[in-house]
Amino acid sequence: MSQIQQPGPEVAAGWRERDAAHLATCYSRYSDLVVERAEGAHLHTVDGRDVLDFGCGIGVTNLGHGHPAVRSAIHAQVDRLLHTSVTTHSLPMIEAAEEIAAVAPGGLESVFLCNSGAEAVESAIKLARKATRRSDVIAFLGAFHGRTYGALTLTASKAKYHAGMGPLLPGVHHVPYPRAGEGEAAVAEIERLLASVVDPGDVAAVVVEPVLGEGGYVVPPEGFLPGLRRLCDRHGILLVADEVQTGFARTGRFFAVEHTATQPDIMCLAKGLGNGMPVAAMVATREVMSAWHPGDHGTTYGGNPVACAAAVAVIRTIRSEGLVERSARLGDAVLERARGWPALCPRLSDVRGLGLMIGLEFTTPEGAPDPAVVARIREESLRGGLLLLNCGSDDNVIRLIPPLTIPEAELDQGLEILEAALGTWAGGNGGVSRE
Ligand SMILES: Cc1ncc(COP(=O)(O)O)c(C=O)c1O
Repeated sequence: MSQIQQPGPEVAAGWRERDAAHLATCYSRYSDLVVERAEGAHLHTVDGRDVLDFGCGIGVTNLGHGHPAVRSAIHAQVDRLLHTSVTTHSLPMIEAAEEIAAVAPGGLESVFLCNSGAEAVESAIKLARKATRRSDVIAFLGAFHGRTYGALTLTASKAKYHAGMGPLLPGVHHVPYPRAGEGEAAVAEIERLLASVVDPGDVAAVVVEPVLGEGGYVVPPEGFLPGLRRLCDRHGILLVADEVQTGFARTGRFFAVEHTATQPDIMCLAKGLGNGMPVAAMVATREVMSAWHPGDHGTTYGGNPVACAAAVAVIRTIRSEGLVERSARLGDAVLERARGWPALCPRLSDVRGLGLMIGLEFTTPEGAPDPAVVARIREESLRGGLLLLNCGSDDNVIRLIPPLTIPEAELDQGLEILEAALGTWAGGNGGVSRE
């Protein structure tokens, strides 16, 4: 009888070689896993590994990989209609806009469908300029809004993203994003900017992430977003909420602005909207959107029927499975458990989050960012079968973003792997030091 051969690590190595041969040199991967299929919270690699995915393809697969409702909506649409663009009307595009408008904060009823988060942000900048007839934009230090030129200019999470890419968009001003206790000071800083550097009459929009994403999973103080809203109202500036990473139940509300009942004029959506299909949206009040007339803006693939069918299924599933409440409940439980983790690893200096969007910040005893410990814990976790992503301008934050649908036993299993990894650091595991 012939023996069944398990594929060995050389199979993955072969794929990585082929990857390096022809794929662009800009990809910065979080792991060297070579994945061929995925189901729920599990990634299955070509060399036979089964890895728990607590990164969700960078905050995208909120419903887990291959959710049956999304998968069957995609399958059904593929057989009906793949593409017409604006040469016709199409049913999934209309339904997606209706579903988005139904769940968006009140008043955001007009939807521009596009393909990526950056494109949604780009669209927001263009709409805000047209609607206000003003040119400038205020954004935040630590923000990430994407890689196209407008979005890239607003991005200020790592200087590397701008290096050698200039000149960028003119008229973009960056101000500090507040941490605990700094909410009022952050709004006052913008007022100072408006008094001393840029006249409010030249500012079209303030663009803000309701929770800082790539910049380190920073939850702003409660008064910050309402304070920003009031500032925008005082000066006739539009408030743009970039909910690309925080949207679709990730933070325990449908959208993160709901935590403080903040009403944006424009909202940018992507990632969780398609659960893996490339679909994004820029949503605005009817009044703001009315600044655009037919032909003012567009995109060939925006509103693709298959992507929109996925989006419709995603929104309906979030509601039917109660995922907003589940994200809040599981998030609270993980946060509570994580508050005990500094005892396992004293370098863990802050635990924070909303819903299942949780950040673990690591610093040295001197209080400096500690990316080395983050790298070691991620490496150790991956060895144990758990994929974790990092973030933060200094790469010193681990983010926990498991699927919102993850069975509790699997969530627990992942957290146990992480706890074991934390315990291998100095001070944990009977004092075994790896430094
Ligand atoms: C808050 C936020 N905005 C915009 C983007 C850009 O989205 P995309 O990569 O789809 O262009 C991202 C991506 O990480 C993001 O986190």
